[in-house]
Amino acid sequence: MTTPCYACPVCQQPLTLNQKSWRCSQNHSFDEHKKGYINLLLAQNKRSKAPGDDPEMVIRRRRFLEAGFYQPLAETIASRLQASLPTSSQIWDAGCGEGYYTALCQRQNPTATFYGLDISKPAIAAACQHKGIYWCVASSSRPPYLEHSFDAIISIFSRVDADAFHRVLKPGGIIGMATPDQDHLMALRENIYDSVRPYDTQKHQQYFDDRFTLIDDHRLEIDLNLSTNQAILDLLGMTPHAHRLPNSTREKLAQLPSLQDKACFKIYWLQKQAE
Ligand SMILES: C[S@@+](CC[C@H](N)C(=O)[O-])C[C@H]1O[C@@H](n2cnc3c(N)ncnc32)[C@H](O)[C@@H]1O
Ligand SMILES: [Zn+2]
Repeated sequence: MTTPCYACPVCQQPLTLNQKSWRCSQNHSFDEHKKGYINLLLAQNKRSKAPGDDPEMVIRRRRFLEAGFYQPLAETIASRLQASLPTSSQIWDAGCGEGYYTALCQRQNPTATFYGLDISKPAIAAACQHKGIYWCVASSSRPPYLEHSFDAIISIFSRVDADAFHRVLKPGGIIGMATPDQDHLMALRENIYDSVRPYDTQKHQQYFDDRFTLIDDHRLEIDLNLSTNQAILDLLGMTPHAHRLPNSTREKLAQLPSLQDKACFKIYWLQKQAE
């Protein structure tokens, strides 16, 4: 492995590991957690005490993803990385959650070095179960990495920040971004809302400016045969809908034995202009 590309969140100098502690030349130091991640989120950059997904969301997302429902999405992204990148690439999963996609992409691209970052401590603690990946707690808006470190960034249903992504991408580096598309989880949403609003499918492209070129976008549909109530509640629990439910709807969903639905994604690939 090459030297890790962590940058000190205080002074932006390179961090190096010495006996479980990451330190910069100005002696700012960050201990490695016993699970194996580092916390590079400075207290002054936290908007709440426990930002990001909470432990219950992490458990539900892990159970749902490990059941393989979204595997075609993970494989599509992993194959594209494999086809687009040279060996020994550096890849960052921004807002990686509990690390399902990071780990699957790593298995399919074993010569690449992967970094996973999320603002949620419980998500990163769970991600540490996957070895051989550099896990850290931080914000995607202030990624604690050196400039021009990555050949690719992936962002799957997560926050994107054009300036931050531009800073840490190499010239010519690529971004793979997956977002919900028209009719995503329509059956689930019809069970929740009286009238289902269409997604604004244009908004995602607006995150990027002319420093990036859109090289490809395509839709991916996955049929979801949710044959247990657990799977339904897990899916619900990993979406923002879970926080908005009146009790009556929650009770109705807790009785639903099965659900036939469709996951609809849009996958965008963008490229940073060569400088
Ligand atoms: C919808 S989840 C997607 C997680 C993962 N990519 C997946 O698809 O399984 C969004 C993730 O973004 C994280 N998040 C929210 N704000 C963030 C920020 N400013 N920086 C990094 N991660 C953030 C949340 O904690 C959560 O894990
Ligand atoms: Zn420093």
